[in-house]
Amino acid sequence: MEVKTDSAISIRDLKKTFDGREFVMNGLSLELPRGKITVLIGYSGTGKSVLLKHILGLLKPTSGSIHILGQDITDMNTRELTKLRNSFGMLFQYAALFDDMSALENVIFPLKEHRRELSRAQMIETARARLKESGLDEKHYNKQPSEMSGGMRKRVGLARALALDPAILIYDEPTTGLDPVLTEMVDNLIVSTHNARKGTTSVVVSHDLYAAFRIADYVAMLDSGRVLLHGTPQDFLDSDIDLVKRFVSKGVRKELQVHTDAPEEK
Ligand SMILES: Nc1ncnc2c1ncn2[C@@H]1O[C@H](COP(=O)(O)OP(=O)(O)OP(=O)(O)O)[C@@H](O)[C@H]1O
Ligand SMILES: [Mg+2]
Repeated sequence: MEVKTDSAISIRDLKKTFDGREFVMNGLSLELPRGKITVLIGYSGTGKSVLLKHILGLLKPTSGSIHILGQDITDMNTRELTKLRNSFGMLFQYAALFDDMSALENVIFPLKEHRRELSRAQMIETARARLKESGLDEKHYNKQPSEMSGGMRKRVGLARALALDPAILIYDEPTTGLDPVLTEMVDNLIVSTHNARKGTTSVVVSHDLYAAFRIADYVAMLDSGRVLLHGTPQDFLDSDIDLVKRFVSKGVRKELQVHTDAPEEK
C-alpha cells in the first residue's frame, strides 16, 4: 500500500516483543520529515538500535506499520527489502571498511554489487567524486585502512555510504569513542554532507547530547520503546518532562566539564 506523506520515514504504533511478554517497542509512533536531520537520543536500552533495525527492515514488527519513502515495508519480501536498502546509506560507529582494499576500492565495492551497468571507468569516477565530497585528500585514495588515520577512515566510510546516492543517510553512534577533535570533524561532516545533498533525510543515533543539539533540526527522545519527546533542540531545553530535563542537564554538564574541568555537581 502506498501512503502519501511528507515523511521520509513514518512509523505508526510499532510494537515489538522478542519473548511474547516484554515489549521492547511499545506503541512507538514517529514521523521523520524529508530533508531534515533528526537525532535519536535516549538512555541505554530504550530501543534506539531496535528501532533502527526495524527501519532497515532487519527486524519485523510484532504489530504496527513502517513506511519508508511512502512504501510499506512490513510485508516486503527479502528481494524487495534488499532493493529498498539501496536507498539507505549507513555509517556505523566503526566504519567497518574492508582491510585489504584501498580507499577507492572500498567505495567502488557497493557500485560493483548494485550498479553493474556501470563501466569500470564510471565506477572509478563515481568513487572518486564521493571521496572528494567526503573530504579525503586525493593522495590517500590508494591507501589501505591500516595506513590511514581514524578521521580518514571515517571519511572513506562516509564516501562508501554515499556511493549509491541514498535518499536516507543513517548514522549509528558515529562519534562514540572518538576524541573531541574527531567528534567535531564527524559532526561537521554530517551537516555538510546533509546540506550538500538537497532533499536527503539524515537520521543520527547518538549518545552525545551536545552534538545532537548542534546538528539536529529535530530531536526524538526514546523511553521504554516509545517517543517521549519529538521536537526542536529548543523544545528540549524548554521541556518540563522530568526525564528530558535530567537527560538535558546531564549532557550540558558533561560539556562544561570537557571545556572547563568544572567539578561534577552532586
Ligand atoms: N535480539 C534481541 N532479542 C531480545 N531482546 C533484545 C534484542 N535486541 C534488543 N533487545 C532488547 O531490547 C531493548 C532495547 O535495546 P536497544 O539495543 O534498542 O537499546 P539502545 O537504546 O540501542 O541502547 P544503547 O544506547 O545501549 O545502544 C533492550 O532491553 C534489549 O535487551
Ligand atoms: Mg544501541
